[in-house]
Amino acid sequence: MSIRLSDGRVIPMEMHKVRIVQKVTLPPMAYRLNAIAEAGYNTFLLPTRHIFLDMLTDSGTNAMSDNQLGAMMVSDDAYAGSESFTRLAAAVKDVLGFELCMPVHQGRAAEHLLAKVFVKPGSVVAMNYHFTTSRAHIELAGGTVLELLTDEGLRTASREPFKGNMDLDKLSAAIGQYGERIAYIRMEATTNLVGGQPFSMDNLRGVKEIASAHNIPLVFDASLISENAFLIKEREPAYRDCSIGEIIREQMGYVDIVYLSGRKSAAARGGLIATDNRSYFNRLLEWLPVYEGFATYGGMSTKEIEAMAVGLREMCETDVAGSAIQFIKYFVDRLEANGVPVVTPAGGLACHVDAKRFLPHLPQVQYPAGALAAAIYLASGIRSMERGTISTDRDQQGNEVLADLELARLAVPRRVYTMSHIEYAVDRITWLHRWRAQVGGLQFVEEPPVLRFFFGRLAPVGDWPQRLAEAFVKEFGAEC
Ligand code: F0G
Repeated sequence: MSIRLSDGRVIPMEMHKVRIVQKVTLPPMAYRLNAIAEAGYNTFLLPTRHIFLDMLTDSGTNAMSDNQLGAMMVSDDAYAGSESFTRLAAAVKDVLGFELCMPVHQGRAAEHLLAKVFVKPGSVVAMNYHFTTSRAHIELAGGTVLELLTDEGLRTASREPFKGNMDLDKLSAAIGQYGERIAYIRMEATTNLVGGQPFSMDNLRGVKEIASAHNIPLVFDASLISENAFLIKEREPAYRDCSIGEIIREQMGYVDIVYLSGRKSAAARGGLIATDNRSYFNRLLEWLPVYEGFATYGGMSTKEIEAMAVGLREMCETDVAGSAIQFIKYFVDRLEANGVPVVTPAGGLACHVDAKRFLPHLPQVQYPAGALAAAIYLASGIRSMERGTISTDRDQQGNEVLADLELARLAVPRRVYTMSHIEYAVDRITWLHRWRAQVGGLQFVEEPPVLRFFFGRLAPVGDWPQRLAEAFVKEFGAEC
């Protein structure tokens, strides 16, 4: 929740207390300069010992609750028929409303199975927007991704509350054009790569009507479902008085298959697929033991199954669903007030800095979002993630595909960081914005062919990291 102070300021409030802590250190500038060079200017390749605040992702990095940890202690380690699975299936039934579910080792494993069963060479999957792994699995199965986001969704400076909405006219036109080649429609809640932006209930209902009229399965990526539900409650007037649980259940009523990464809203690890359609379920289940594991563990440890079952229930509490969102909003609002270009309105998983507007002097082929992520690390010891052209693989002819957006993403793992951490991040990013002219581009030195952002190594164009470090040390000293 957020609290209004007597001076009128509204601040996010932690509705939990910290009982276990993990030490972090702030490596000084000389150390950071070395560390980012050793990591090939790719923040994925930084070891955590070189990092002060890890805002790479909210995936698998959330603080679990006492009840989640407690549940892990009583997990039932059976290869088949585990009681831990029974408890997960009960949580899926209660929270998502589906009778049939299967665990998978994480979200992308669900995407793999869905692509394996539904996508054939020539298939098209229509979606509000792609996620890196969802696109990779669809393309590896021979399909293509069709993004039908509303035009407003790609505008980084906006006041539109539901930038994750699918454009229903584009959907109808796509069905007219591709017909039976459309394997399924996929809605991602919240829409990760455009800034964790939610879609509305009204939009989902519209998508469902069109999907039903054409007999196309509707697949829902629920990795950040409780955040999307929280934003529906905040921004869609008809849902102001509904609970998070009620909003989630109504959404699930429109959906044929739901899948999720258990590493996000559910604050655990692993993932799952759920449906009420026995035929879909059986087709997916056939492949589960081949790629994941037996039906009652699906590649997950039973401890994590227990944690996910509790996490699914807890994410329906308003304070839990809003725990990261309130901090993200504070983070985004503070940066915006300081003149730093950020994605607005604040979304459901991170504060996203718009690198195209932050570094307008850099051409996109020099990877502004990657350069900004490297510069943020230098200026602060904070690890963010490039979400731009580096995260977009080349096309089949080997041509660079320029991403729609160039974002440096500062994820806010649930219940992990405090107000002073956020204030520090705001301060250093604001400082960097003043020195933005010093930040240069990057070029690949080692470039993997698939999901190149994970392991690719880059080098700076020129010696800008050194010059930026000198400016920093002049202002803050060598120890900061
Ligand atoms: N769908 C969405 C919307 C995601 O954000 C992710 C992961 C996945 C699917 C894949 O799930 O990682 O469990 O295999 N997002 C992470 C991130 C990696 O950092 O945003 P996974």
